[in-house]
Amino acid sequence: MTQRVLTTESGAPVADNQNSATAGVGGPLLLQDQHLLEKLARFNRERIPERVVHARGSGAYGYFEVTDDVTGFTRAGFLSEVGKRTQTFLRFSTVADSLGGADAVRDPRGFALKFYTEEGNYDLVGNNTPVFFIKDPVKFPDFIHSQKRDPFTGKQEPDSVWDFWAHAPEATHQITWLMGDRGIPASYRHMNGYGSHTYQWTNASGEAFFVKYHFKTNQGIRCLSSEQAAEVVGTDANSHQTDLLQAIERGVNPSWTLYVQIMPAAEAADYRFNPFDLTKVWPHSDYPLQRVGRLVLDRNPDNVFAEVEQAAFSPNNFVPGIGPSPDKMLQGRLFAYADAHRYRLGVNHTQLPVNSPKAVPGGADNYGRDGFMATRNGSRTDKNYEPNSYSGPAQTDAALSAPLAVHGHTGTHAAPQHTKDDDFYQAGELYRLMSADEKSRLVANIAGGLSQVSRDDVIEKNLAHFHAADPDYGKRVEEAVTALRED
Ligand code: HEM
Repeated sequence: MTQRVLTTESGAPVADNQNSATAGVGGPLLLQDQHLLEKLARFNRERIPERVVHARGSGAYGYFEVTDDVTGFTRAGFLSEVGKRTQTFLRFSTVADSLGGADAVRDPRGFALKFYTEEGNYDLVGNNTPVFFIKDPVKFPDFIHSQKRDPFTGKQEPDSVWDFWAHAPEATHQITWLMGDRGIPASYRHMNGYGSHTYQWTNASGEAFFVKYHFKTNQGIRCLSSEQAAEVVGTDANSHQTDLLQAIERGVNPSWTLYVQIMPAAEAADYRFNPFDLTKVWPHSDYPLQRVGRLVLDRNPDNVFAEVEQAAFSPNNFVPGIGPSPDKMLQGRLFAYADAHRYRLGVNHTQLPVNSPKAVPGGADNYGRDGFMATRNGSRTDKNYEPNSYSGPAQTDAALSAPLAVHGHTGTHAAPQHTKDDDFYQAGELYRLMSADEKSRLVANIAGGLSQVSRDDVIEKNLAHFHAADPDYGKRVEEAVTALRED
């Protein structure tokens, strides 16, 4: 085998990779040592900004296969035929901690899925929870500030976590979810994924439906108690990464079954819950789960930085037949992600292999040009303006999805109220669904956090939310908090 030659960035051979050049034996370094300068400078630039949320994650490639006919509801090409397969990339994540954080923590998990369809990349950027803490994007930066590291202490502070929630009664449903058993999944393979938001599907006749996505794990749900999680974090802080990587390397390919709940668009206005409120679910008795297909993960990325760290998912990446609903949170997210990618990865992040659309050879086909690190430059004869007389790419004139009706005046309005739309009803329903043991663990987890809060008024406001959800729930949390504070 011929020995490969070590080179500088410009491709010249390196003579010595063990000793830097000095002025005489034992003397100071020489500025002319190109290899040393380049090596140190390049090393300083290895890190890019981490994601402002969901920084810590794991990814894998796979495919989605349609198992059931949904062409009556959407004209999306990748869902057009039973048996059709589409290549995918999925990134799982925790939310609150930084890149070096531990995996087995109490936190929602991201479930960001990219479908490389023949009509462009479709990104479904969801979580392992069907609901979320807030229902208006203007609150998101405040919410995240309160949950991440405090600017003074440099660590997560129960005072801030619970102070935000004291002012956000709409978070009670998601808090009940997070503090319950499913708040710490045993691994990424053993949890469900949800689109969480309501999306819009449009069929070939232009009829619109509102849908919610549910990816049910075929590995079964497995969770860790707070005590088990503490032990796992102490043994392997990267436990979820280890589990996913090793399972796929062994050929034990995890899979999920996709179901959707489908609401004809005309039913949205009179539904008892606001169907576009991200803090609410649609009970399955109202809109049953309908199976769509199977997602399988079967290949680990070759390079974590190139493929996982540089992966860019945007809820704004739709394909024909799928579009946004008027959910305010979703609408806010339509802006936030591509903006984050332009900051974190640069304007040409869609040219990176993991993000590049596979529908058209060579990636996207449009008149966007140049920018830092451009690699898609077109050919000599390509024009960089439109319309043109040179058979460049042209618009289709076919709307991607059905229009959304709007009415009223502009203004900073609260979301429309439907008959059952208080902030506590569904949180109480979730509590009442739990077994006696589950309720006890939920109460203990909430009390463990809330009892660390230093201000009585913040504790009282939070207790009022649990009381409003269910009198037994409130009473038990209050008793547990009181007992812990008296300790
Ligand atoms: C990541 C913003 C709500 C799921 C991110 C990122 C931003 C962001 C800026 C980092 C993106 C990047 O650097 O690549 C927001 C805003 C929200 C919001 C402004 C509310 C208005 C949500 C909700 C969900 C969600 C409701 C789930 C239903 C995710 C996931 C990631 C993420 C899974 C990680 C994506 C990846 O793996 O690269 N979010 N987010 N976010 N967000 Fe959100």
